[in-house]
Amino acid sequence: MSHEIVEKNIGLMALFILLVISVGGLVQIVPLFFLKSTTEPVQGLSPYTALELEGRDVYVREGCYVCHSQMIRPFRAETERYGHYSVAGEFVYDHPFQWGSKRTGPDLARVGGRYSDDWHRIHLINPRDVVPESNMPGYPWLAENVLDGRLTPRKLSTMRTLGVPYTDDDIANASAAVQGKTEMDAIVAYLQRMGTALK
Ligand code: HEC
Repeated sequence: MSHEIVEKNIGLMALFILLVISVGGLVQIVPLFFLKSTTEPVQGLSPYTALELEGRDVYVREGCYVCHSQMIRPFRAETERYGHYSVAGEFVYDHPFQWGSKRTGPDLARVGGRYSDDWHRIHLINPRDVVPESNMPGYPWLAENVLDGRLTPRKLSTMRTLGVPYTDDDIANASAAVQGKTEMDAIVAYLQRMGTALK
């Protein structure tokens, strides 16, 4: 009887559908905010250094995430290629995270330490110099653009507001830490630490 009323009244039905989806969603999502495994950093994870954080900003600005994910899924084909699957505790200092979903290029979650700094520099200036069949664009300007360190302390303190445990010293020394460095130095530093916390 009452079922029939709902079935014949699309407004009422939409309301109930919305209600059911909301409850289902909340039951799935809310516990994640309290689970240790999703809110606590993995052991050995440290906040990005000032230079790495600047590198991360360059990564976002250049849209690297459009072709690269940073999320290794727990499937054999992925773990054999990229290494241990990603765990939530690796990303607690990432605001916002760069997981992505588009893989025109390989996943980068564990690219840290896989190549030398020089390899990355050559690859980023012109990928074809090291990977002849590559269709990744070159980013030669990164080697010429010098970082403007004036905003770096504010970037660190913004991260602190979001829960990243930077000390007053980290923030005070942030400008000096990136002084004279290029965007290339920064993005290579960022790439080299990617995924290295999880042993
Ligand atoms: C249009 C898509 C595209 C964009 C944008 C792009 N890449 Fe790539 N990237 C690729 C492809 C395809 C490969 C595989 C071929 C190669 O190694 O060059 C690759 C490979 C890489 C590799 C080597 C990964 C490995 O495990 O061998 C790194 C590191 C990398 N890209 C970093 C970057 C960074 C940093 C940016 C942004 C500055 C970027 N990519 C932007 C497509 C892209």
